[in-house]
Amino acid sequence: MPDLYGIIGYPLKHSFSPEMHTLAFARFNMDAVYEAYEIEPSAFQQRIAALKSEPYKGFNVTVPYKQAIIPYLDDLQVTARKIGAVNTIVQTDDGGWRGYNTDYAGFLAPIRERLSQINSVLIIGAGGAARAVVFGLLQRRSYERVVLVNRSKDRAGQLAEEVYREEAKNIEVHGLSEITQRPDAFDLVVNTTSVGMHGHEGQIPLDAVPLSHATTIVYDLIYNPAKTAFLQRAEQAGLTILNGLPMLIGQAAESFYLWRRKRWPQTLVNDMRKRLLRT
Ligand code: ATR
Repeated sequence: MPDLYGIIGYPLKHSFSPEMHTLAFARFNMDAVYEAYEIEPSAFQQRIAALKSEPYKGFNVTVPYKQAIIPYLDDLQVTARKIGAVNTIVQTDDGGWRGYNTDYAGFLAPIRERLSQINSVLIIGAGGAARAVVFGLLQRRSYERVVLVNRSKDRAGQLAEEVYREEAKNIEVHGLSEITQRPDAFDLVVNTTSVGMHGHEGQIPLDAVPLSHATTIVYDLIYNPAKTAFLQRAEQAGLTILNGLPMLIGQAAESFYLWRRKRWPQTLVNDMRKRLLRT
């Protein structure tokens, strides 16, 4: 009997998780299957109860259930609690569900080596993705300056208050128009909003160039398109750019590690990158 894994979300047509984990299980010669469980919101409670009674080893959880799953867990890892979202479940031997968030580790993966040189960070957005970014960054170390900029300044303010309560660290808050009026240079500029995503190509949340210096990293969590207008503009100005593909693979690798205690080798990561770029 193979070990059973799956992803819970709605819709799931465009999820890359089944492909990534199936490839990884094959590469490690593990007898395991990974299925997509597309669950309509009206059936959520009943389907989760049914899955919980089965001998699964683990799950990924994606939109729109990363928060909704929390009441069904028996245990919640501390960073997942702070972020307020779970994307990975490990089923323990007694059938309990322990929730984790691996999005923040995926976010950190491509900048890990450069993190010690980053002293100032500008984060655009204040939604779920921004929460993973801000708590992920602060979990590693302190920074001279962390700035949150969001269309709705109130929402950014609420997140800053939560960060202060959890981490006792001050972060600055601005509205989108305010930050453009006072150009300043940051070591890392991150777009966590959906602006510029497939279907909205060409739009940018904010021009990162006036907020950068020669060695600024401009990071967009979007991976489709691979190069958003936000990144194109930064690249044209000679800045270092990063898209969301390494984060996508990184969060999956981290889930896999929680389930199987195996790290994905670089060759596997490279193969995945090639496959995902083809689709
Ligand atoms: P996610 O979980 O992907 O972060 P979310 O919680 O809905 O999704 O948050 C979306 C983020 O993108 C928010 O910061 C949102 O700004 P508001 O808080 O002001 O809504 C931002 N966003 C979405 N569409 C935007 C747009 N057209 N212009 C600027 N910001 C936008």
